[in-house]
Amino acid sequence: MTPIKTITAAALTVTITGMAFADGHRPAELAALGPPPIPADNPMTPEKIALGEMLFFDPILSGNNNMPCSACHRPEAGWAVQDKISFGYPGTTHWRNSQSVVNSAYYGKLFWAGSSGSLEKQARSAARGGVAGNGEDDMMEARLAFVPEYREAFREVFGDDWPSVRHAYMAIAAYQRTLVQTDTPFDEYMRGDDDALTDAQKRGLDLFTGKANCVTCHNGPLLTNQAYYNLGVPPYDGWEDDPIAQITFRFELFAKGSTEEMYRTTKDDPGLYFRTKQKADKGKFRVPSLRYTAYTFPYMHNGMIETLRDVVVFYNEGGGENEFAENKTGIIQPLGLSDGEIDDLVAFLESLSGDEILPDDPEIPVMQPLPMAQN
Ligand code: HEC
Ligand code: HEC
Repeated sequence: MTPIKTITAAALTVTITGMAFADGHRPAELAALGPPPIPADNPMTPEKIALGEMLFFDPILSGNNNMPCSACHRPEAGWAVQDKISFGYPGTTHWRNSQSVVNSAYYGKLFWAGSSGSLEKQARSAARGGVAGNGEDDMMEARLAFVPEYREAFREVFGDDWPSVRHAYMAIAAYQRTLVQTDTPFDEYMRGDDDALTDAQKRGLDLFTGKANCVTCHNGPLLTNQAYYNLGVPPYDGWEDDPIAQITFRFELFAKGSTEEMYRTTKDDPGLYFRTKQKADKGKFRVPSLRYTAYTFPYMHNGMIETLRDVVVFYNEGGGENEFAENKTGIIQPLGLSDGEIDDLVAFLESLSGDEILPDDPEIPVMQPLPMAQN
C-alpha cells in the first residue's frame, strides 16, 4: 500500500505543477521584450550606428581626452562598472553605481532618479558631467574636427560641414538603441517555448508574480513600472571613510540645489528629491529593469547589495533602513520565503539574462593636422 500511496502523491504533485505550465502559464503582468522605440527625429541608419559606436568607445568626448563612455560602461562588466560606486573623472569618484546601458533604450527616464528624458540628452550630460566626462562642448567639437574619419562620417550621416557635438550625442543614442536583448530564456518562454525555463525557474516565476510580490513594481516587458520607491537600501558605506567620495557627495548635494541645512546634515542620497524637491521623495529611486542583471553586480543605486541572492534575501527580510525611513514604501514587507524558494527566485532572475553582449572594440580614428586651405 505505502509505495502506491507515495506514487499517487508524487504523480499528483507532478500533475499540478505540469498543469500550471502545460497550459502555458504566462502571467499577464509580464511579457517578452520587443524592439525598442525609435524617436522620429533620430532615425536609425547603419552609418549612424557605426559612428555612434566609435564615439561611445572614443575618449575624445571628455575633458581630458581620456574618459570614454566605455570606461564606465565596460562591455565585459555588464556594460557598467562592477564596483559599488563608479569611479569618476580623475580627482573624483562618481557618487552612484554605474548602470548598464543594455536595454536603456526602453526607459522613459534615464538615471537612477530619472533625471534625464532621452538617450540623446543623457549622452550630453554624461559627456559634460563634472564627475563623468567633464567635457566642454566647444572643445569636444574642435577635437572631432581634427579627425578626418569623423569629418567624413558626420558629413555623410548628418550633412555637417564640421562635426557637431549635438549630432555626436544623437549617434551615440542610436548606437545604444542597438544594445538590447530580446531573446533571453524568459523571452523564449513567454513566446511559447515551454522548455526555455527550468522547473526551478518556473517555480521562481510563480513566486515572482505570487508570494514574493515582485511583480507589483517589476512588471511589463522591461520588468519595471518605472515608478520611484524607497526600499530602505542602506547608505553607501564608503562615505564613512573615503574623503574623495565624501567630497563628491557634498559637491552633488550643492550642485543639485539642496538647502543649507540639508547640505550640512544629509548623509545619504536623496534620489528623486533632487528633481521634485518634495520631502516625500527623499530616498526614492527608479525601479530598474531586471534584465541583464546576471552581469551587472553589485546592485542598487549605490551598489550596496552584492549578489542576486543577497537582493532576494534583502526583500525576504522586508527591505532595509536608511536616513529617509519615513518614506519607505509599505509594499515591501517580510516575505517568509524558504531557502529553496529563495533559490528558485534567483534562478528565475537569471533567466532574464541571455548571453553576454561582447562586441569587438571598434577601431578609433585619430586626430590629424587639418588640410591646408586650397585656393
Ligand atoms: C565616469 C564614469 C561614467 C562615464 C564616463 C559615463 N557614464 Fe554613464 N553612467 C555612469 C553612472 C555612475 C551612471 C548612473 C548615474 C546616476 O544615476 O546618477 C550612469 C548612467 C548612464 C545611463 C543611464 C542608464 C539607465 O538605466 O538609466 C546611460 C544611458 C549612460 N550612463 C550612458 C553613458 C554615455 C553615452 C556616456 C558617454 C557619453 C557615459 N554614460 C559616460 C557612469 C559613467
Ligand atoms: C515597491 C516596489 C518594488 C518591489 C515590490 C520589488 N522591487 Fe526590486 N527594486 C525596486 C526599486 C525601487 C529598486 C532600486 C532601489 C534602489 O536602488 O534604491 C529595485 C531594485 C531591484 C534589483 C537590483 C537591480 C539593479 O540593477 O541593481 C533587483 C535584482 C530587484 N529589485 C529584484 C526584485 C525582486 C526579486 C523582487 C521581489 C522579491 C522585487 N525586486 C520587489 C522596486 C521594487
